[in-house]
Amino acid sequence: MNRNLALEFVRVTEMAAIASARLMGRGDEKAADQAAVDAMRTMLDSIDCQATVVIGEGERDEAPMLYIGEKVGSGKGPQLEIALDPLEGTTICAVGGYNAISVMAIAEAGCMLHAPDMYMNKIAVGPDCKGIIDIRLSPTENLKRIADAKKARIQDLTAVVLDRPRHKDLIEEIRSTGARIQLIGDGDVSSAIATATPDSGVDVIFGIGGAPEGVIAAAALQCLGGDFQGILIPHGPDDVERARKMGVTDIKKVFKIEDLARGNLMFCATGVTKGSFLDGVVFKPWGALTHSLVMRSESGTVRHIRAEHHFDKKPRY
Ligand code: FBP
Repeated sequence: MNRNLALEFVRVTEMAAIASARLMGRGDEKAADQAAVDAMRTMLDSIDCQATVVIGEGERDEAPMLYIGEKVGSGKGPQLEIALDPLEGTTICAVGGYNAISVMAIAEAGCMLHAPDMYMNKIAVGPDCKGIIDIRLSPTENLKRIADAKKARIQDLTAVVLDRPRHKDLIEEIRSTGARIQLIGDGDVSSAIATATPDSGVDVIFGIGGAPEGVIAAAALQCLGGDFQGILIPHGPDDVERARKMGVTDIKKVFKIEDLARGNLMFCATGVTKGSFLDGVVFKPWGALTHSLVMRSESGTVRHIRAEHHFDKKPRY
């Protein structure tokens, strides 16, 4: 994969972030998401590639654009697979909260799990804990291992958990170890990336969130040297069948990071609202400022790109 493609793809997340940020705080999740989808879809076709959406807005019958299996790109250039979320954290954007991003992971064909739209139990950590986590063990055992690897006390660790009733027991168990908890309303991709971001103060994420978001987080952590494991949580036989149709034959499988995303990966994210590793879009009388993260697993380079977008020269915006 040509490394310069990464800088092409960041234009896509920048445009989607600007489009949805315009609707920040309006209380309209659907409109903010639609604005990001429209911008991302339009911009993708300006890139020379033949890409297939493997993680997108949903399955074909429920998503008119950026659905799983949709072909995007100019139709010339390398065959790629894209996992995307034009607006990760639709509710965050709608209320003007913390950590909404526009995000894409790009891989060569066959290198990302085609994850069905269902829940996944997840654990994610940064590079200092790579190889020591095991999702089959209890959160307590994982926290002990993380504390050992970081040469820290368990009570100094911070675990991020989505604030959901389904996590009641998980939260109680983490509290019983003495570890600190940051409960988040939404946006577990940002929190997974934060585990590998120095000074974010986040050590681990635990709990059940979207499986598509799990694949995107795994791709980001492959670029950052972190670790991730996930187990699908189907709700009944229909979910098992949907997963099977997408190539998942063992529904109980523990997906290691390389099962979710491997090979030569690229990752781009642009902040929509301010967050733990990206600033949000700031509008100016002449245009907008954006802050993006661009990474490649092959080189391990992590670029922070701050861009000024002058709307008078960019009629698309
Ligand atoms: P959306 O951007 O699609 O709203 O997803 C936000 C999110 O919080 C994800 O980060 C997370 O994985 C998932 O939703 C959790 O799902 P649920 O809200 O059903 O608990």
